[in-house]
Amino acid sequence: MLFLIALALILLVQWLHLRLLCLELPDRFHRPLPWLLFFFHLPLILFAGLRTLGLGGHSALPLLQFLSRIGFYFQAFTVMHLIIAMLGEWGWRIFRKPAAEVDSLEEAPVDPSRRAFLRTSAVASTGAAMAFGVVGAQEAFSDPEITRLELTFPDLPPGLDGLRLAQLSDLHAGPLVGAKTLRRWRELTERERPELLLFTGDLVDSRPEELEPLLIAFQGFHPPLGRFAVLGNHDYFDDPGPIWRDLEGAGIRCLENAAALIQRGGSTLALLGLQDPMARNGRFARLVYGPGPRPAEATRDLPSDAFRLCMNHRPNEWEEALAAGARLTLSGHTHGGQINPIPGFSSARLIGPRIQGLYRDGPDLLYVSRGLGVVGLPIRIAAPPEIVIITLRRT
Ligand SMILES: [Fe+2]
Repeated sequence: MLFLIALALILLVQWLHLRLLCLELPDRFHRPLPWLLFFFHLPLILFAGLRTLGLGGHSALPLLQFLSRIGFYFQAFTVMHLIIAMLGEWGWRIFRKPAAEVDSLEEAPVDPSRRAFLRTSAVASTGAAMAFGVVGAQEAFSDPEITRLELTFPDLPPGLDGLRLAQLSDLHAGPLVGAKTLRRWRELTERERPELLLFTGDLVDSRPEELEPLLIAFQGFHPPLGRFAVLGNHDYFDDPGPIWRDLEGAGIRCLENAAALIQRGGSTLALLGLQDPMARNGRFARLVYGPGPRPAEATRDLPSDAFRLCMNHRPNEWEEALAAGARLTLSGHTHGGQINPIPGFSSARLIGPRIQGLYRDGPDLLYVSRGLGVVGLPIRIAAPPEIVIITLRRT
């Protein structure tokens, strides 16, 4: 189902791109254009074919990563080209002379001024789209920013004062995020010497076998208070059973509607995890893998004096964490919008009001990480990847 949705989207985008190219380029290029686009899509077609034939196992991952990266970079270029051309078109419509009025793309050939505009802007929009792609890829795969925060809770149990934790979110291990990138993220996180390592969902991009390179990259990194995770919506694109099993096997405890009690300096931290709502709609095909967030289940039998910290993939489900008594909630999911071409506007606003950074509700706090990986297109614009290091303070 997911594959069919992606295919339909790619076909739609490429059909629009073909129309745009026909407007921009002289007639003699029109006949070979569909073949050229097909040629540029060969890597993506091969990638999809290998996956459909079930040849997407761990041994095939390097080849799949190579093929899909080429394909997805071309998709990124296409989308940026369409956006820039659309902005140019709007500009032309606003500033053109009234006599040049046209109503639709179909009328383009009979409007010489519009056609001339499109042709002269073709080089500029192509160059700008490529530049966005290069800059966006650089931002996505450069070293992440390290956000170091001291969060103060006057009623923090004394033994938890100074506790230092690392939050890694949305790694999206898979075709676009490979072993080398994962190893670098581990190295940078380990340097911060956290006592606790928390993964707040979207560990893989779409398939359980994509977890293996992540587990290998983080092998041997054992903060003294442990490693814990919750799954995100992408981890439920396929059967999450192998992910649950492999995380536990690697010593990363998966907390879904569950809690772990962590002792430090005579005080207790109750680390909670809520299940992502996607568990109710696995594979987009009404396969139910769990009940979704259940705060009451997660907090059953917790000691009353324990400080509650909750991992909850989606920030828009903060109310569920608050219902579990969470004083601090850690989320991801938004990628900080990931691609924000309009200055001052985050694309994450399209999915909810909590975009990135710190939010407060009375004495309770929520931190929304921009995450580390990418989804869909292998670029980030005005949303650099992020490793979050939080120190808890009593005063
Ligand atoms: Fe994500």
